[in-house]
Amino acid sequence: MWLDTPAQLLRTAALTPGSDELRAQFPLLQQAIHGAPLAYLDNAATTAMPLEVLHALQDFETRHRANIHRGVHTLSQLATDDFEAARATLKQFVGATDAHELVFTSGTTESLNLVAHGLWTGGPQQAGLRAGDEIIVSGLEHHANLLPWQRAARQSGAVLRLLRPDAQGRLHVADLQALLSPRTRVLALTASANATGERPPYEDLLRMAAQAGALTVLDAAQAAAHAMPALAQIDCDFLAFSGHKMHGPMGIGVLVGRRSALERLEPLRLGGDMVAQVRWDSATYAELPARLEGGTPNVAGAVGLAAAVRFIERVGRDAIAAHVHALRAQALRGLARIPGITVLCAHATQSALVSFVAAQVHPHDIGTLLDARGIAVRTGHHCAQPLMDHLGLGPSTRASFAAYNTPEEVERLIAAVAHAVEVLR
Ligand code: ALA
Repeated sequence: MWLDTPAQLLRTAALTPGSDELRAQFPLLQQAIHGAPLAYLDNAATTAMPLEVLHALQDFETRHRANIHRGVHTLSQLATDDFEAARATLKQFVGATDAHELVFTSGTTESLNLVAHGLWTGGPQQAGLRAGDEIIVSGLEHHANLLPWQRAARQSGAVLRLLRPDAQGRLHVADLQALLSPRTRVLALTASANATGERPPYEDLLRMAAQAGALTVLDAAQAAAHAMPALAQIDCDFLAFSGHKMHGPMGIGVLVGRRSALERLEPLRLGGDMVAQVRWDSATYAELPARLEGGTPNVAGAVGLAAAVRFIERVGRDAIAAHVHALRAQALRGLARIPGITVLCAHATQSALVSFVAAQVHPHDIGTLLDARGIAVRTGHHCAQPLMDHLGLGPSTRASFAAYNTPEEVERLIAAVAHAVEVLR
């Protein structure tokens, strides 16, 4: 589709969450699936893109596309300006200060791998993980914030410790207190669990870990679209999130954190643009942020992500949060009326998702019947198998909400789940 709507018009439209005007900004939503209007409720996996982002991508690709930082020609300079302007927008979005730096990555998974890899390989200050060090990972994490730490522990001889959730999927500060020791070097934690919606008391947990001398890692992938943590107000060394979960492009993400912590990381990608001086047998690395951005970056992705930030700011972060919380509460009430349904972390009122199991019915079968009615949800372990095993209820069906979802879509979800459970039992 060639987009020729003037961007100015898009920017002046009033955008209330759930309104027709806001929904009209999302071409993806204007279609039918199996003859029914699409109800897109898989936003925890990927969100739809508004016209503002599509326009920004088109504008970059058609007017400024060139490689950055290396060219004196005009387009290269314009592309560099676009990339650095996007960095500034993202920094403002997370509330970064002068003590912070922001690195573009391909997404949350790369950001978390960069931190774990960068710490076990030692980094420029040889301040890496050593045998006997301890890494604490919460039991709410998806695989991207667990597997890199498993490998970091294996490679360095550090010990991986688990901050176990209780039977309801909650984390407790007293449990972290009991785990912390003078050997604790890292706490890795989510701001919002993708499989259950649990919102842990991450401010308190990060503060305790920082006071104990540990580096703190916060995965904000599931919070980015409606509840981005305020970086300057938390004890966070590394914050990771993805563009595609906040209406931005796929293949772009962020690692932002304290400059002093980022400087401890050994780069994951060696190559062009991240070096100061190179000889046949050795090289010195550039300063941050270039040092951690080896190779040609996803410039269009960064530009699109900055447009996604402007979209979110225009709708209003508080308005989006209130909207998704209300949709979740509505879904919870409706699902509670269906016999045999158990909602995981039903207490998680600050979540944008509802994850549930139905007695004697496999979630994949529910998901298939919902799809037949045009309703997109996710089913399975949600890349968080240890947590799902811990909760002991098996795989779940997850409906997750965004600014464009409506109460009518939630009613359709509830009716379709009730129908699926009746048919399948
Ligand atoms: N982590 C993504 C999800 O929760 C893929 O669906």
